Amino acid sequence: MQYSEKVMDHFAHPRNVGEIENADGVGTVGNATCGDIMQMFLKIENDVIVDVKFKTFGCGAAIATSSMATELIKGHTVKEALELTNKAVVEALDGLPPIKIHCSVLAEEAVRAALADYYTKIGREIDFEVPEKDEEACHIIPEE
Ligand code: FES
Repeated sequence: MQYSEKVMDHFAHPRNVGEIENADGVGTVGNATCGDIMQMFLKIENDVIVDVKFKTFGCGAAIATSSMATELIKGHTVKEALELTNKAVVEALDGLPPIKIHCSVLAEEAVRAALADYYTKIGREIDFEVPEKDEEACHIIPEE
């Protein structure tokens, strides 16, 4: 299996790893197929994502895509982050082998789940699609 240099770089040196205490939005999603889990923490000020951190318990492609996803949304507005697609993340990484594309879905879903949590916390109506708990590929894992 051939990974791009960017994938290898983000896998070996993932950006924004960790947790944010008192995050404004936290999203945890899991991939039902492989059991991998991704958690995303957002710090949001005036609807701008001022900080983002992630923890991924998963394969190399999942780590690389979460790392790239954090870079793509950091400093951007909530609205812009909602437009992030797994395709954009894969493109930013110069591609993934077809068999690993499903791993990139976790990143998109984790961002959405964290933003849904933010909307709930500030009492804003969620007007975008949130991963369902019983969905085939990805699902939200409720916080303890
Ligand atoms: Fe599970 Fe990649 S194999 S996310």
